[in-house]
Amino acid sequence: MKRVACRKAKPRIGKVQRGVAVLTAMKKGGVVLVSDTILETEGLTKEFRGFVAVSDVNLNVRRGTIHGLIGPNGAGKTTCFNMLTKFLPPTRGAIRYDGRDITGMKAAEVARLGLVRSFQISAVFPHLTVLENVRVSLQRARGGSFDFWRSDSVLRKFDARAEELLADVGLTEWMHLTAGELPYGRKRALEIATTLALDPVMMLLDEPTAGMAHDDVDRVVALVKRVSVGRTILLVEHNLRVVQGLCDTITVLARGSVLAEGDYAAVSRNPDVIAAYLGSEAPTEAAHG
Ligand SMILES: Nc1ncnc2c1ncn2[C@@H]1O[C@H](COP(=O)(O)OP(=O)(O)OP(=O)(O)O)[C@@H](O)[C@H]1O
Ligand SMILES: [Mg+2]
Repeated sequence: MKRVACRKAKPRIGKVQRGVAVLTAMKKGGVVLVSDTILETEGLTKEFRGFVAVSDVNLNVRRGTIHGLIGPNGAGKTTCFNMLTKFLPPTRGAIRYDGRDITGMKAAEVARLGLVRSFQISAVFPHLTVLENVRVSLQRARGGSFDFWRSDSVLRKFDARAEELLADVGLTEWMHLTAGELPYGRKRALEIATTLALDPVMMLLDEPTAGMAHDDVDRVVALVKRVSVGRTILLVEHNLRVVQGLCDTITVLARGSVLAEGDYAAVSRNPDVIAAYLGSEAPTEAAHG
């Protein structure tokens, strides 16, 4: 249990689900006790025409942590991620977020609950400036429409907050460039800023350092660390040095199933994990890389 200072929450015990009492928020002596688990899956399974891409995965992500989802190519990481963020419906299993069953919800609904997937680069508008991109996200977060070309005055009121977010991700000096002109690593920072504009409680990042040069990787690692304060992050990542540097807990997937779970030291020593990685980058080697 985590103690979170909160004046507004009323004493409340969450629904009983599958015989398990889920404590969502119980006031005690001025602080609210909330469940340690923020995201949980039970028997999560995805089949593509009989091929089992994700098989019976039980995930448990603790609130306020950075949780890594790793595994060799084709392990089912992205498929898992797509189910968690509602891009794909599971074949079987349940997903619970913050004590609620979100299995049947739509992506927009879970985003409103604070579970937000970092947008892919393609979702950044390349012809808008960096600042305009964040403004549009802020407007979207307030439920505004997409007709930003007509509502300049409305958008301007979001400028102050947009500039704050850009400062947070180190993009102040780039804010008047068009997003398309940004170097690759900075585009990921912009993508993270547009995600932060939605004020997520939990962020899901799919390979935030993919294809990056060394300097950019270090910058994104520092950025993820910074934005993780007061949030939960689930991270799919191939770069094991990044995983080692960031993740409190790591779930290793292989052929759709959970192979191991624990901190970096534990999973990188696990013989099954080492065997699964044979032929690719072994976690133990990366630890010294
Ligand atoms: N839409 C689909 N239809 C059929 N098979 C699919 C589909 N999407 C994924 N798969 C298969 O499911 C398995 C898991 O794929 P997934 O993309 O989730 O793996 P991954 O762990 O993200 O791999 P990578 O590290 O290469 O990104 C793979 O064998 C893949 O070919
Ligand atoms: Mg993938």
